Amino acid sequence: MVPASPIQIRPLRPDEADEACALARDVFDLFAAPFHGDKGRALFHRFAQPAALLHRHAKRYATWVAVAGPQPVGMLHIHACTHISMLFVAPEHQGRGCGARLIRAATEAGALRPPLTVNASPNAVGFYTNLGFVPAGPEQASDGVRIQPMRHPGPLSAGAAMQPAL
Ligand SMILES: CC(C)(COP(=O)(O)OP(=O)(O)OC[C@H]1O[C@@H](n2cnc3c(N)ncnc32)[C@H](O)[C@@H]1OP(=O)(O)O)[C@@H](O)C(=O)NCCC(=O)NCCS
Repeated sequence: MVPASPIQIRPLRPDEADEACALARDVFDLFAAPFHGDKGRALFHRFAQPAALLHRHAKRYATWVAVAGPQPVGMLHIHACTHISMLFVAPEHQGRGCGARLIRAATEAGALRPPLTVNASPNAVGFYTNLGFVPAGPEQASDGVRIQPMRHPGPLSAGAAMQPAL
């Protein structure tokens, strides 16, 4: 049996954009798509194309990846250093701390700065709540997209649990 590669978290290399976007679209289709309408699903697929993602890097977006060996198994797309625009972890790596590590590593590197915001897909609200995010208003639905706006008051702790400041 081949031993599992350790996970490394780092900024995306441009040559990894295809794989990172394919990962985002595949994981979206499996876990998030059922909560959204056809229009929202099509919108997301256009947003998660490699050329569009790399183009946004010139417009205050950045992307981090979790890699196991050569393979991206998680991706985090950030806007303006504060907003989590996309966060996806491959099914076989979910529930092992990868999503939280992506947020924490980007935060520790200054690529993500509190107060953090996210428009959480309904299926991911529990994940963000677990990390200390709180609702920033009611759930919204438009153009086939359902989102729960959330924010993390920060600062984030360096430990496993990221609690909001008291
Ligand atoms: C949401 C997602 C990114 C989380 O990544 P992950 O690597 O599975 O999460 P982690 O293992 O880092 O979880 C961190 C903590 O949150 C908890 N958690 C994870 N998903 C959860 C959920 N849906 N509900 C409640 N708690 C959850 C974990 O149990 C863990 O808790 P612990 O620290 O007490 O052990 C991942 O499950 C995913 O890709 N989901 C589908 C795509 C998606 O919805 N992305 C978000 C779009 S906004």
